[in-house]
Amino acid sequence: MSALLFLLFLVLSFQLSSSSIATLTEGSSLSVENPEDVLVSPRGIFSAGFHAVGENAYCFAIWFTQSPGQNRTLVWMANRDNPVNGKRSRLSLQRTGNLLLTDAAQLDVWTTDTASGSSVDLLLYDTGNLVLREVEGSILWQSFDFPTNTLLPEQVLTRFTKVISSRSETNHSSGFYQLFFDDDNLLHLLYNGPQISSVYWPDPWLVSWNAGRSTYNSSRLAVLNVLGNFSSSDDFTFMTSDYGQKLQRRLVVDDDGNIRVYSRKGVGDQWSVSWQSNLTPCTVHGICGPNSTCSYSPDSGRTCSCLPGYRMKNYSDWAYGCEPEFDLSCNRSESRFLTLNHVEFYGYDYGFFPNYTFNQCKEFCLQLCNCIAFQYYFFISSGSFNCYPKLQLFNGYRSPNFPGALYLRLPNSSSFSDVESIAKYSLACSTSSRAVLLHRTYSKDSVNGSVKFMLWFASGIGGLEILCILLVWFFLYRNKWQSRVDTQDYVPAASRFRKFSYSELKKATKGFNQEIGRGAGGIVYKGELSDHGAVAIKRLHEANQGEAEFLAEVTTIGKLHHMNLIEMWGYCAEGKHKLLVYEYMEHGSLAENILSNNLDWTKRFDIGLGTAKGLAYIHEECLEWILHCDVKPQNILLDSNYQPKVADFGLAKLLDRNAVKLSNFSRIRGTRGYMAPEWVFNLPITSKVDVYSYGVVVLEMITGKRATMDDRIMEEVDTQHRRLVTWVREKQKKGSAMTSWVEDILDPAIEGNYDVAKMEMLARVALQCVQEEKDERPTMNEVVEMLQKSNQENNDE
Ligand SMILES: *[C@@H]1O[C@H](CO)[C@@H](O)[C@H](O)[C@H]1NC(C)=O
Ligand SMILES: *[C@@H]1O[C@H](CO)[C@@H](O)[C@H](O)[C@H]1NC(C)=O
Ligand SMILES: *[C@@H]1O[C@H](CO)[C@@H](O)[C@H](O)[C@H]1NC(C)=O
Ligand SMILES: *[C@@H]1O[C@H](CO)[C@@H](O)[C@H](O)[C@H]1NC(C)=O
Ligand SMILES: *[C@@H]1O[C@H](CO)[C@@H](O)[C@H](O)[C@H]1NC(C)=O
Ligand SMILES: *[C@@H]1O[C@H](CO)[C@@H](O)[C@H](O)[C@H]1NC(C)=O
Ligand SMILES: *[C@@H]1O[C@H](CO)[C@@H](O)[C@H](O)[C@H]1NC(C)=O
Ligand SMILES: *[C@@H]1O[C@H](CO)[C@@H](O)[C@H](O)[C@H]1NC(C)=O
Ligand SMILES: *[C@@H]1O[C@H](CO)[C@@H](O)[C@H](O)[C@H]1NC(C)=O
Repeated sequence: MSALLFLLFLVLSFQLSSSSIATLTEGSSLSVENPEDVLVSPRGIFSAGFHAVGENAYCFAIWFTQSPGQNRTLVWMANRDNPVNGKRSRLSLQRTGNLLLTDAAQLDVWTTDTASGSSVDLLLYDTGNLVLREVEGSILWQSFDFPTNTLLPEQVLTRFTKVISSRSETNHSSGFYQLFFDDDNLLHLLYNGPQISSVYWPDPWLVSWNAGRSTYNSSRLAVLNVLGNFSSSDDFTFMTSDYGQKLQRRLVVDDDGNIRVYSRKGVGDQWSVSWQSNLTPCTVHGICGPNSTCSYSPDSGRTCSCLPGYRMKNYSDWAYGCEPEFDLSCNRSESRFLTLNHVEFYGYDYGFFPNYTFNQCKEFCLQLCNCIAFQYYFFISSGSFNCYPKLQLFNGYRSPNFPGALYLRLPNSSSFSDVESIAKYSLACSTSSRAVLLHRTYSKDSVNGSVKFMLWFASGIGGLEILCILLVWFFLYRNKWQSRVDTQDYVPAASRFRKFSYSELKKATKGFNQEIGRGAGGIVYKGELSDHGAVAIKRLHEANQGEAEFLAEVTTIGKLHHMNLIEMWGYCAEGKHKLLVYEYMEHGSLAENILSNNLDWTKRFDIGLGTAKGLAYIHEECLEWILHCDVKPQNILLDSNYQPKVADFGLAKLLDRNAVKLSNFSRIRGTRGYMAPEWVFNLPITSKVDVYSYGVVVLEMITGKRATMDDRIMEEVDTQHRRLVTWVREKQKKGSAMTSWVEDILDPAIEGNYDVAKMEMLARVALQCVQEEKDERPTMNEVVEMLQKSNQENNDE
């Protein structure tokens, strides 16, 4: 008997693994759960089936059956922007002639919207074309009419189709670059970004005939043939470098905005580029996002950097560009212009003003409230200087060949200089490969059904109880395990934590109307909860923080208890809504208090000491080694007694104490002005980056000056560095014998007595913290010890 059952299993499993389905017939379907459910073309060149694009996320795709290494070479996707779940999703050919992709047996995600009276079947051709065909041979639908980022040989690009790049190398959803025929009958490449769109190929300033194109043929067709000849009805043609040979080829609009043709000799070979649009890396629009410049870099091809005074908006993605760190006042006397040589921003001018003097151009910009820069340079063809006031800064690049300059408008009080933009981030940062996780709740019926069946089966066949019990146990266990994964409730990090509902928090904040701050990745609102009184509720930006980062923040903060660390009371995670509930700090942030001169010298010293204790705790005393990575006055909050509490661990990353690879940070974190040199020079990141930022904060607190200083002091400093640190060091060196040097740097706006020895110690410690060399900086624990010692000596007197 048991032998019989074994045989049954064998037959079953054999049937499952007998692979390659040639055609999908009416009424049948392909399941995401069965890896053998793959359509294969007659000669086996192409395969079509479900392809995993992330954790538990699948797309129905076509790929070259033989792909080099582990990675499939995908050529088409049905649902690139709507991946389906890894359970109970299927592609079905309905009896009506419609092809339908359902997600988790619940949602219709994609359909061909076809109907036929006669019988139809679905075939994959050896050209890579997936065809829905009626018995008589007529084609109802074909994938060649709906390209994604690839054109295969003989796949015609028409007026109705577009080739759209992937978002990144690892993210296959629709990206920003498109190849298509415009209404002028020309084949164009378009950057279609989150904020703007612009054509960059052929060069937008060329008339069509200068670009070698014709606008007269309105058929709008383009195709790459099997021999490697591409021709388009606007007269654009090219031949691949291996023209003539019969190779496997594919034309791809890559995620960097270039078109490339890849080819290879045989199955399993690597692909090589046999043609590419010879766009220099920075002529592709939008590549670095707004408010940033692109420059050529020999190793990575191109480097993006923010303009001085701007910071990266999304540290994992350059497409979002940079945002200003300052507020620009409309008052003309509060602006200055910074000269950026060899920098050009293309387009988005307020106008074009020929034969303007520099001062005329500058005046013009100053008079426009929203003029944020102007471009001014000599135009050889007209023999005059031209002026282009800018209202937006897109498509910026730096090139030694560009003769002109950009004049960037900045607040008069700022000290941003062009030197700062050496803090470039390589474009490599932009491919974030975090896996997507899809969450669906399943109705449990069918699993229960199979359990029931197994039970029935078990009682029906005697003598096999043990085996069946094992099987039932397996199914039950699997069911339980699945439901735990599927319902994905976050495990509370600590039991005193509470999970709040979104409606509860919305009510508590009266519909999020009292904003009290903006931190990394979210806006903080004041709220009132019946069991906690006043609370601060941080609402994370939609689609901003991934699940992983969110959970990291929750668990990090949940574990920390220290009088100088902000207390977290709970969280809310409901779909796209992610919120954190913190204790409310009466006196707001240190930044606000420095500005309003609320703090006397005793308070300032105590804030310096308290902050050091809080940071020392997260660095050294708790179980996991946690770096804050964004220490700045905005992240130090003051309670009713002006005791400091360190807040905002949004950027913190948990580090295993034993893990030595401290340089393993994939992204730049932190805020310009407070960032340690290690970030800029790509050196290993240790807890000393927090020590550096702490030092800058303390110097600001003592001097009352922003780390980004104003011009008045600049003149006194008379150094290239233009840094608060340099200024303070200079004062320390120049200090006279009569009085302490510290008196020269203390904020003159603060009245009242102070203890010279204590303030000197605080300043000296801060200077040690901002040493360029990280090993010369003390640890946070040493800082606490030094400050405490000076405090005690003082109290003993
Ligand atoms: C697969 O793709 C990844 C990411 O694009 C790449 O790093 C890796 O080298 C590829 N593996 C192979 C075997 O080509
Ligand atoms: C490539 O195709 C175009 C258009 O079909 C044709 O005019 C041209 O002669 C072809 N080139 C070669 C080398 O076959
Ligand atoms: C227009 O282009 C198509 C495709 O390249 C070509 O077949 C056709 O002959 C062209 N028509 C004219 C009038 O040149
Ligand atoms: C670019 O900078 C300008 C002003 O400096 C600002 O108004 C705009 O929002 C910035 N763009 C982005 C995407 O942040
Ligand atoms: C502009 O700023 C200057 C200096 O900050 C100030 O004296 C002047 O009153 C301001 N003008 C206006 C219209 O606000
Ligand atoms: C702004 O800076 C310019 C040049 O440094 C200076 O002449 C002007 O007085 C400053 N304006 C204000 C309001 O500080
Ligand atoms: C530019 O302006 C100057 C004086 O306004 C004038 O003499 C000159 O001819 C102008 N040049 C051009 C090219 O218009
Ligand atoms: C891929 O890019 C899209 C669009 O920007 C985004 O919504 C999605 O989350 C990304 N997926 C991954 C895995 O990063
Ligand atoms: C940053 O980019 C990543 C990848 O595209 C995206 O998942 C995330 O939501 C973005 N964050 C913000 C603040 O837009």
